[in-house]
Amino acid sequence: MTATGTSEGVQRMLADMREGVLQGRVPARIFNDQEIFDLERDKLFSTAWCFLAHESEIPKNGDYVVRYIANNSIIVVRDEHGNINANLNMCRHRGNMMCKSEMGNASHFRCSYHGWVYKNSGELIGVPYFKEGYEGQLDKKQWGMIKIRIDTYAGLIFGTLDPQAPSLDEYLGGFQFYLDIYLRQGAGGSEVHGPPDHWVAETDWKICAENFSGDGYHTPVAHQFGFHLGYFPSSGATHSEGWAVHIPDKGHGIGLGHTPGMPPFFGYPDELVEQMRGSLSAEQIEVFSKTRTAVGSVFPNLSFLIQPFSLVPGEPGVRFCTMRLWHPIGPGRMEMWSWCLVPKDASDEYKEAAYKAYTLTFGQAGTFEQDDFENWTRVTKAAGATAVRDVDFPYVMGLERPRLADFPGPGYAVSPYVTDTNFRNLWSTWLDYLTREA
Ligand code: FES
Ligand SMILES: [Fe+2]
Repeated sequence: MTATGTSEGVQRMLADMREGVLQGRVPARIFNDQEIFDLERDKLFSTAWCFLAHESEIPKNGDYVVRYIANNSIIVVRDEHGNINANLNMCRHRGNMMCKSEMGNASHFRCSYHGWVYKNSGELIGVPYFKEGYEGQLDKKQWGMIKIRIDTYAGLIFGTLDPQAPSLDEYLGGFQFYLDIYLRQGAGGSEVHGPPDHWVAETDWKICAENFSGDGYHTPVAHQFGFHLGYFPSSGATHSEGWAVHIPDKGHGIGLGHTPGMPPFFGYPDELVEQMRGSLSAEQIEVFSKTRTAVGSVFPNLSFLIQPFSLVPGEPGVRFCTMRLWHPIGPGRMEMWSWCLVPKDASDEYKEAAYKAYTLTFGQAGTFEQDDFENWTRVTKAAGATAVRDVDFPYVMGLERPRLADFPGPGYAVSPYVTDTNFRNLWSTWLDYLTREA
């Protein structure tokens, strides 16, 4: 063991991985290992910008949700001035958890242990026996709830535990261009449709984050029911066409799948297409209008997917959008959070249809969800097996593929869509965090 508590075996594996990723090799062990989980908690989730909530989840003053960054519980709340605050869900007196409900509306939080009271923005304003007990020796200003640094992009609220972290804008590094396909559906942007589903899965979070960084390769096999039964409007067409784009050294990646002959912005109502043509840039329109599937991840663990789905097999598809957070809670174990995003300006009829398509596919009992997690749980089990500790997986797909010179968006783009290019960048960025000096 080193001073940081990491064994020499894991240190050596990570050192070898530096060269291995460039050559297209990734060790299986990273997908289910206690030491890797500890390193991720201490070096990755303690410094990266992590997703907390969507602004539309807390529309009114006093609305709050309780969310997590690694093992930290955080209250995300809109205060009496309409500002968004994120505070550690912990009383400063003796550390009791302040808020036990996962969402609600409150102007104040009162601790259930000795009764300290905080404004929802975090200031301590009430202390029982303040005069008799403390006799003026407690400076309330010093003992407010602990604030987490936050910033937003197009409705997404991110937080970081690192006061020295670069700005969110710099962290996203151009990936905002692609996030707009999910967040700027229609002129009014996107909103959540109902509260998120969340549940525990015996799966390593990274397998999911990788898959949603653009794994178009698994779709025709893992989700073949959709093709066979006619739920994909693209049934019968190849699933290899399109683009894979990543932001070098940032870890964000997206797969943009195409279906030849599919009409532009397929699956959206006409009025929304009209709005998007007015509010997106010419470059975004060029990229998004051709896109059938957009499956992307913001490093480390927030992902999105847009896809047309036929509610009645063989009929035209409706485009739905899901946002997902892969929250690690142990080696090979995570809490899955899943939201449906809809265009704010869409008709109720379209929102309901999109929500139905989301529920049938990526809700907790959704068909795609079952397909994916069945595979991901088995991958996780295999990665934790003793005989697999020194085994690598090949990430060589598209190793020699040249970067597209004339791609209209930011980042590193290749074609076709089926490639490991985004994943090599993901693992290289992950490695940067885990091997960074404290
Ligand atoms: S722990 Fe909260 S008031 Fe004592
Ligand atoms: Fe999938």
